[in-house]
Amino acid sequence: MAENRAKTGNAPNGDEGAAGNDENQDWMEAVRRAAIAKLPMAEGNNIRKVIAVMSGKGGVGKSSVTALLASYLSHQGAKVGVLDADVTGPSIPKLFGVHEMPTVGEGGKMVPPESAGGVKVMSLNLLLSDEEAPVIWRGPLVSGAIKQFWSEVLWGDLDYLIVDLPPGTGDAPLTVMQSIPLDGAVIVSTPQKLAAMVVKKAVNAARMLDIPILGLVENMSYVQCPDTGKRMELFGPSNLKDLARELEAPALGALPIDPTLAEAGDRGKIEEYQKPMVDEVFRGLTSSPAMVTKG
Ligand SMILES: Nc1ncnc2c1ncn2[C@@H]1O[C@H](COP(=O)(O)OP(=O)(O)OP(=O)(O)O)[C@@H](O)[C@H]1O
Ligand SMILES: [Mg+2]
Repeated sequence: MAENRAKTGNAPNGDEGAAGNDENQDWMEAVRRAAIAKLPMAEGNNIRKVIAVMSGKGGVGKSSVTALLASYLSHQGAKVGVLDADVTGPSIPKLFGVHEMPTVGEGGKMVPPESAGGVKVMSLNLLLSDEEAPVIWRGPLVSGAIKQFWSEVLWGDLDYLIVDLPPGTGDAPLTVMQSIPLDGAVIVSTPQKLAAMVVKKAVNAARMLDIPILGLVENMSYVQCPDTGKRMELFGPSNLKDLARELEAPALGALPIDPTLAEAGDRGKIEEYQKPMVDEVFRGLTSSPAMVTKG
């Protein structure tokens, strides 16, 4: 607790000093108490591992890494689902080329549609008649939708449910971390110092809520010139090892900026993007005890 307090910094109102510290403690206790109230596994669901992909920082590739991880696990023969917790900025259905609405199953629960490779996908965008319609919702509605994606969706038997988080440590990420029984979180960053700073906030939030950090992926680490093979570090030199050390988390590996990855996502064919370097990043992750699904 004392360590968390030191790491966490400001009270929600930004006050410093003795009074601020008291408020900070009260606030953290409230967050911890709420975290105890994890939602139970819904009837009809048997989900062995629930893994969040988070960063704190926007646009670093959380959704891409979520989709790549889900595809990797599915290619390995696992039964996989993806819960899109980015309610107001959903990208998961597009990446997997899934556009059908969920159907209604037993007990009135939603049955998630599946990608071409058999990954089950649930996202608010699948419930909208127009996928470009904005979702202008405040916190309680966003939190309610995320909880329903856990409790009211017939995920069935899954080895892994991967949860794609929106940026920040606001209502949606907090709801996931507090309400869904996560087995761990994969952290996504870029070499930029600015990203590292924001990522640390998200990791501190996860640690406050006793969520194990399974490892760090550095996305957009470099770009390789197709003609010369020369690597260019657009966001500066790799920060993977230093940041992983600071976060006390395993460094899973670095992914380059690859236009064919963005293009595969745009075509809804992220599952077809299979590269040795992606396998290498996730091979390290699957050896983590938190990822082992069979005794
Ligand atoms: N390694 C990569 N190479 C090329 N393009 C990438 C790579 N990673 C992500 N992108 C592209 O960058 C953009 C942002 O990626 P993505 O949506 O995965 O990030 P995000 O962290 O989920 O963003 P947000 O914070 O908005 O949820 C997308 O257009 C994606 O296709
Ligand atoms: Mg995203």
